[in-house]
Amino acid sequence: MDCQSQKSPPWWETGVIYQIYPRSFQDSDGDGVGDLAGIESRLDYLVDLGVDAIWLSPIFPSPMADFGYDVADYCDIDPMFGDLAGFDRLLEAVHTRGLKLLLDFVPNHTSDQHPWFIESRASRENPKRDWYIWRDPAPGGGPPNNWISDFGGSSWEWDAMTGQYYLHAFLKEQPDLNWRHPELREAMMGVLRFWFDRGVDGFRMDVLWHIIKDAALRDNPINPDWTPNRTQRDRLIQLHSTDQPAAHEIAAEFRALADHYGDRVLIGEISLPNDRLARWYGTPDRPQVHVPVNFHLIEHAWNAESLRHMIADYEASLPAFGWPNWVVGSHDAKRIAARVGEAQARVAAMLLLTLRGTPTMYQGDEIGIGEVPIPRDRVRDPQDLRQPDIGIGRDRSRTPMPWDDSDYAGFSKVDPWLPLNEDWPIRNVTTQHQDCNSLLSLYRTLLSLRRRHAALSIGALVLVDSAEDVLAFERHHDDERLRIALNLGNHARPLPRFASLPTDAHPAEVLCSTLGEPHSAFRPWDGVLAPNEGLIMR
Ligand code: NOJ
Ligand code: MG
Repeated sequence: MDCQSQKSPPWWETGVIYQIYPRSFQDSDGDGVGDLAGIESRLDYLVDLGVDAIWLSPIFPSPMADFGYDVADYCDIDPMFGDLAGFDRLLEAVHTRGLKLLLDFVPNHTSDQHPWFIESRASRENPKRDWYIWRDPAPGGGPPNNWISDFGGSSWEWDAMTGQYYLHAFLKEQPDLNWRHPELREAMMGVLRFWFDRGVDGFRMDVLWHIIKDAALRDNPINPDWTPNRTQRDRLIQLHSTDQPAAHEIAAEFRALADHYGDRVLIGEISLPNDRLARWYGTPDRPQVHVPVNFHLIEHAWNAESLRHMIADYEASLPAFGWPNWVVGSHDAKRIAARVGEAQARVAAMLLLTLRGTPTMYQGDEIGIGEVPIPRDRVRDPQDLRQPDIGIGRDRSRTPMPWDDSDYAGFSKVDPWLPLNEDWPIRNVTTQHQDCNSLLSLYRTLLSLRRRHAALSIGALVLVDSAEDVLAFERHHDDERLRIALNLGNHARPLPRFASLPTDAHPAEVLCSTLGEPHSAFRPWDGVLAPNEGLIMR
């Protein structure tokens, strides 16, 4: 055997990532907001759950206009979360448990309170002026082009003092950096080095496909498919404001730096169709990010037929060396249980953890937090506050983790910054931990199966034709072949005919049923899938 085939895959290919939204994971100091010491106190929960890496949404000093995605200092910790010494303690505690820690790098923009921007806006002659994107008004007056901010309104903010506009793809409190400026670029590479040197295992890179804009800042074309229930941003096609060739160059530089440190991972937040997404892997000679995030499971209609096509298309789009990845929830998306319902949230768990590719779980999805109504006077999400009528609020996915049935669900000693899920007295970690048929127990089972069966993590994937409502595929590695069948509907359905099965096959050994223990055992290969049931079979 040659050495190549003996080489074991990197940890981020076999591992499962768990996203923590630090404001809402665990409060330790009684201010109603989660913090680093709180996260440290819950690490054993994550070990027991069976994940491999933790990604923390931003923990850096920030005025919190966009809850940390407006960074005022890339190399420190916001006092609300702790301090650098506390971070080092957390990192050590993570590593002691054999876990990895990823930070959220926000390269597209800073806070308007970042010292760089304060200098940049001080005068047109300031040496940091061009670290951001400043332009004169359009010839007839008004903003330099037609670009629309992701949070609504023009992407340009007028600065009366220096008589120019600056660009912001998100809030006006989040001015866009100018990645064409060599000094800015070097300063940001220094930020990555700062954290790599401290020992972090990688980064999730916020809106990576945004970081470079068309040099001439041409108008974006009108989107003919826009309808009023969509965001203002979607009125335009972001042709000139995102996914520019030069952004790929920067991704390759990030990767070269990460590779220099060895065994680190870069996850690029990139929301694009498959053909464009695949380019973010780069080439074997000049790789870009390890993981260009695949949002399809979040964006796709939840039905077997369309998911099967989506999975096939995505797999087909990957370059030979490109490793896939999957996600069903995040701090920006509607909760999976709210979107597909409780019964299907269990099927979604099985799908996420049996597809080929690195799964990222989002805190709270493992206990099935569903829709959390946020009273209007408690809305905090700036996107929701600016575009209240289209139901895009992100607060409902950012509510605190309910740990137990004590006051404030064990999250805090005081009323938390966002309300808890209304059903927290019964839907909490402790209750589900005690119930072997809970969603949490299902997640633990699936994660432990994934750890024990290489077919589930690194195995090949073969999609299988199946009856209406059923999504089925095989995963195989070495001699092991596992078969997965998921019923996405609420009628019983025949199990698919797995053509690869030998004719004299023994009945299927059910390694896991989403319906819980009593359903696991043996089942004839021509048996049925119960409504909303998912099976892993051997
Ligand atoms: C994507 C982040 O996930 C989101 O929460 C944030 O508002 C934007 N990027 C801007 O940084
Ligand atoms: Mg706190």
